[in-house]
Amino acid sequence: MKNISRRSFGKSVAVSTAAALSGISLPGIALGAQPDADHLRYRFPKGFIWGCATAAYQVEGGAKEGGRGPSVWDTFSHTPGKTHNGDTGDIADDSYHLYKEDVQLLKNLGVQGHRMSISWSRIFPEGKGTPNPAGLDYYSRVIDELLANKITPYVTLFHWDLPDALPGGWQNRDTPKAFADYCAYVTKHLGDRVKHWMTINEFICYTDLGYRVGQFAPGLRLGPAEANQVRHHGVLAHGLGLKAVRANTPTGTQVGLAEDAKVYVPVMETKEHIEAARKAARAENGMFLTAVMEGKYPDSYLEKEGANAPKIGPGDMEAIGGKVDFVGLNIYDPNFAQASDSKWGYSVVPMPTSYPHMASPWLNMGPEGIYWGVRNVVDLWKVPAIYITENGTSSDDVINSAGRIEDIDRVMFLRNYLTQLHRATAEGYPVKGYFLWSLLDNFEWADGFSKRFGLHYVDYKTQKRTPKLSAEWYKQVIAQNAVV
Ligand code: NOJ
Repeated sequence: MKNISRRSFGKSVAVSTAAALSGISLPGIALGAQPDADHLRYRFPKGFIWGCATAAYQVEGGAKEGGRGPSVWDTFSHTPGKTHNGDTGDIADDSYHLYKEDVQLLKNLGVQGHRMSISWSRIFPEGKGTPNPAGLDYYSRVIDELLANKITPYVTLFHWDLPDALPGGWQNRDTPKAFADYCAYVTKHLGDRVKHWMTINEFICYTDLGYRVGQFAPGLRLGPAEANQVRHHGVLAHGLGLKAVRANTPTGTQVGLAEDAKVYVPVMETKEHIEAARKAARAENGMFLTAVMEGKYPDSYLEKEGANAPKIGPGDMEAIGGKVDFVGLNIYDPNFAQASDSKWGYSVVPMPTSYPHMASPWLNMGPEGIYWGVRNVVDLWKVPAIYITENGTSSDDVINSAGRIEDIDRVMFLRNYLTQLHRATAEGYPVKGYFLWSLLDNFEWADGFSKRFGLHYVDYKTQKRTPKLSAEWYKQVIAQNAVV
């Protein structure tokens, strides 16, 4: 099926549905049960990039090898009581040594792209100062291996593993500057081969969860003013990093970020609720994505925080609002919004306790979220390109007596989200690619190894990787460029 434009989409569905209901045949189209009927398939646009996503600390291991310095996650995970079962990323999936095997897993899936991250403290063990050539060599080899297998690397520069040596971490205004220097160094050396960069992954997880809630590294519980300042340094790092990447890479390099923007689904698809969901998306992401897209904090955020609002230095907002080439969205659980006569024109609907979720209790199942996540961002800010930089689910995977992992709940989850993503592409939203989280089961942060998100089951004792049913399914999706 050709990509249907927004205008013709409704019409084409109406014709097929009416014909199917009446039981008649259209010329050349056999109606009824027709799993191969191409015109009815949820087919993605030509050139759509399918991939998987991973992150350095979650898969690499080799924590003390190749001159790597400790990150805040090493320190945090080695602190008793901080992670499930005291799990750490010391070994994780041992991809530091097994990366060639992992590239073959990707190749076997047929992906066109792979999203990975670079560990800052492998490159600068102290966070700044003297770089460690062995760290850069490692990533250079990984990138060459991907390219040799015709897989395009999409590289994230920061996925939460802040070098522990940096004084004050994200509380210190010098950290965004150190991040920019690290970005400059890495992109200068790898930018000949890497053409797609993401500065930062998920602001809220290393700012709020790390410094306000204490659930993630470094595990602090600061008050609101200090926590807002950490958020500000988080977005400033993106802005300064963006500038550094641009200055050190050839023209045509694409730079963006990967953000788990809060997604708002309208309670029903009527004009007023659709508008309310869009307003909610702008206001509720005020401290992160809205600031990045608009180069200013929206009034709703500043008013809510009052005297606790961040202190902004000269030039900060200009840097934060630097133009990105794409927005990467990590889409998991949805939120719901409805129209209201409140000051900002929307209200967020509380999630009922009976709302269905996946193996991770926070992961509410909301396929429409992937459609509305894309739509709200494009409608609000007219971004030229969107990637789904993460989407996937944990599942209570078991190996059955035949040695298979039949993770039909993961397949159900993915199939529903992709069907909704198809809706976005069919309506003309510029979604360029999709990176499934994750290639492998891996270190799921505070949940340690208790939650499995991979398409491949990892036996952490032997490091054996076994493809799950979802891997077979995703391989078909990629081969057919369609939901299967
Ligand atoms: C988003 C994060 O980027 C990733 O590191 C994490 O494992 C997944 N969500 C699943 O929680």
